[in-house]
Amino acid sequence: MNRAPTHVMPKTRTQYVCRECGAKTPRWMGRCPECEGWNTLEERVERGPAASANGGGRARLVPGVGSARPVRLAEIEAISFDRLAVPIGEFSRVLGGGIVPGSLILIGGDPGVGKSTLLVQVADAVARGAGPVLYVSGEESLAQIALRARRLGLDAPDLLFASDTDLAGVMEAIESTGPTVVVVDSVQSIYSSELEASPGSVSQLRECTLRLMHLAKNSGVSIFLIGHVTKEGAIAGPKVLEHMVDTVLYLEGERYHTYRLLRSTKNRFGPTHEVGVFEMGEDGMIEVANPSAQFLAERGDGTTGSAVLVTMEGTRPLLVEVQALASRTSLAIPRRAGNGIEYNRLLLVAAVLSRRLGLPLHDQDLYVNVVGGLRIDEPAVDLAVALAIVSSVRDRPIDPRTVVAGEVGLSGELRSVGQLELRLREAAKLGFECAVVPRSPAAHALRGLGIELVQAASLREATRAALLPQAAPDGSEA
Ligand code: TYD
Ligand code: MG
Repeated sequence: MNRAPTHVMPKTRTQYVCRECGAKTPRWMGRCPECEGWNTLEERVERGPAASANGGGRARLVPGVGSARPVRLAEIEAISFDRLAVPIGEFSRVLGGGIVPGSLILIGGDPGVGKSTLLVQVADAVARGAGPVLYVSGEESLAQIALRARRLGLDAPDLLFASDTDLAGVMEAIESTGPTVVVVDSVQSIYSSELEASPGSVSQLRECTLRLMHLAKNSGVSIFLIGHVTKEGAIAGPKVLEHMVDTVLYLEGERYHTYRLLRSTKNRFGPTHEVGVFEMGEDGMIEVANPSAQFLAERGDGTTGSAVLVTMEGTRPLLVEVQALASRTSLAIPRRAGNGIEYNRLLLVAAVLSRRLGLPLHDQDLYVNVVGGLRIDEPAVDLAVALAIVSSVRDRPIDPRTVVAGEVGLSGELRSVGQLELRLREAAKLGFECAVVPRSPAAHALRGLGIELVQAASLREATRAALLPQAAPDGSEA
């Protein structure tokens, strides 16, 4: 094969590549001619040899990488990640302490959850200290963006806005303004005119992200890509981009709750599973400095069916209220519904309660809710769910000064949870006086935390320790 001389302009053409077998065709077909799979052909831009200086093919997937010659660790220049400070603490902590120059960060979330609001606030905050920031919107006009920014009271002189959907235009704007940080809102709205595929399709998402990644790695500009996720996890959603970017953040929250959690699920430059807590207010996203106190703010004293869990979100302990309501069913198979907890955990806990504690749940509908719109995935939630259910069924409140954490095993035993000390310190800080936790050597070694520790080996023991005697409406004991 003749190699093209290197001085010619890069040639690009589009091809259709089968995502199953890798076969290429110049035209789109419904069925791959090689593997005969249906709808497997995706549009790709193929660049000529001049465009891919490293020999083309795979090398392009790792941009900013100079050569394929293997080197020793000592020969590799140490790059220090001098992070750009973000004066929004909750945002900064999720990134691992600021924005790494040249990084590509995907921030996903349901439409309307507050991605644009948060990022325009971040853009403004960064522009005040770390240099010019460019906010490119492909979804809103400049007038709409300005309206929002003014309403949020943002006016950093170094914050620039652009409204564009063409990738070439976006890249040009970035090159001509030389920002330190760019926000692209949203990655689904921009498209490369080199591809025929429509904006938001897998081919377009991949191509646009790849080009922006090149730009980030080569120029050192940090780029935030906003991406919509739909409940169905849409095929062309940010999921396909997760492996291409350095950091993946998700903004979560229930539409009708004001709390928003920013979580990192992937971070090449810091810890994952950190969480930042915000509240969506009239003036945009406000950091919540003491989330535990807020999550417990509306808790009633002495109500039945309520347990306080101390959970870990990353390295951060959070206190949340878990509520349960048992009510007599009118169905042949009673209903179980969980909000904020995994449905299977609820079924497991309910099964253990009826088998091991003899709790009559066969004719009870069960509803469990985590207050504040929080979602808890760790098994330590089991004990709170179990105790809230027992409390509701037996109509006995849990001591309001008690917190709990523990995993429930199938034989009704309690299994220990990690980071007990951090959890207990947070509980003590918020004025809780007693913690019911699984019996373990780690728990045994803990002392002087300012909170009484009750170690329970089984769910039965925990129930005995946490439930108060039945309270009649007049306050006397029944
Ligand atoms: P938005 O940031 O546009 O969401 P996304 O970019 O994730 O789609 O915010 C959406 C919602 O937030 C919108 O329904 C209005 C509400 N909102 C507030 O409650 N307070 C505010 O200050 C702003 C700007 C928006
Ligand atoms: Mg938006």
